[in-house]
Amino acid sequence: MHQDPYRSGIEADIQSSGSVPSQRIEIRAFDAPAGAEVLGLDLSLPLGVDDFARIHRAHLDHHVLVFRDQRITPDQHIAFSRRFGPLQIHVLHQFQLAGYPEVLVVSNIVEDGKPVGLGDAGHFWHSDLSYKENPSLGSLLHAQELPSEGGDTLFANMHLAWDTLPAHLRNAVEGRLAQHTYLAKYAELQQRSPWRPDLSAQQIAQVKPVLQPVVRTHPETGRKALFVSEHFTTHIAGLPDDESRELLDALFAHSVRPEHLYRHVWAEHDLVFWDNRSLMHLAAGTPNHLRRKMYRTTIEGDVPF
Ligand code: SIN
Repeated sequence: MHQDPYRSGIEADIQSSGSVPSQRIEIRAFDAPAGAEVLGLDLSLPLGVDDFARIHRAHLDHHVLVFRDQRITPDQHIAFSRRFGPLQIHVLHQFQLAGYPEVLVVSNIVEDGKPVGLGDAGHFWHSDLSYKENPSLGSLLHAQELPSEGGDTLFANMHLAWDTLPAHLRNAVEGRLAQHTYLAKYAELQQRSPWRPDLSAQQIAQVKPVLQPVVRTHPETGRKALFVSEHFTTHIAGLPDDESRELLDALFAHSVRPEHLYRHVWAEHDLVFWDNRSLMHLAAGTPNHLRRKMYRTTIEGDVPF
């Protein structure tokens, strides 16, 4: 177990609520269907309860927050993430940051013939860990090394996708369940990339298919959102294969219409925190000759309803 002095600091701060001075935080919404940037906040310092409450509220309102210029350590990244809930450990333990099982390294860098991280994470649209009974509440991705071009991350607002879904599609899916599985595209990804190791029986046992509602209710805001994705959703329960496929394709196409999207162009030391209950995301891709390295934590969420 690594030391986590920052977390102990936070616990002390929470106990002596109000004793940590507020930082001069500014939250600026993007002119986009999701997203806001948080300025004037230094996450390497203890975070008081009032500032935490503002960030929490902004996260619910904007779904994705961009914390600029965060020079934080993995311990601090983990400790901030834990303020929102317990962390989940990714099934691909091969790409954990050494000494920090809570941190998944997302990177296209290959050193001495060995990938340092999961290079094709986010290749298909998805909501993190939707294949678990308790999918992720949110994820925090911290830029370590950025390419000079490419490497953007796209976010689709799934509340808007639901709100604007044509009535015939709403009627077809409301109240239905769909199967999500981690393995849905694993073989396809494995064929074309060096980042997908063969899974052990133990790893496969950790990612058994689950049924999730096609339309979920956000547990904190009560807003409805579409909850199916190109990467992990394989079938709508109770429908013949062809009907399910057609419906899923229509839902996927509608979800990622340009008017639902925010495109994040990364800046050095950005920490981006998105709500997996409200959004799907996609890694737009990095040219092979350029290096990109990010650290990701994922916070466990509720069972969707
Ligand atoms: C992910 O899907 O978590 C990775 C997104 C990215 O690398 O932009």
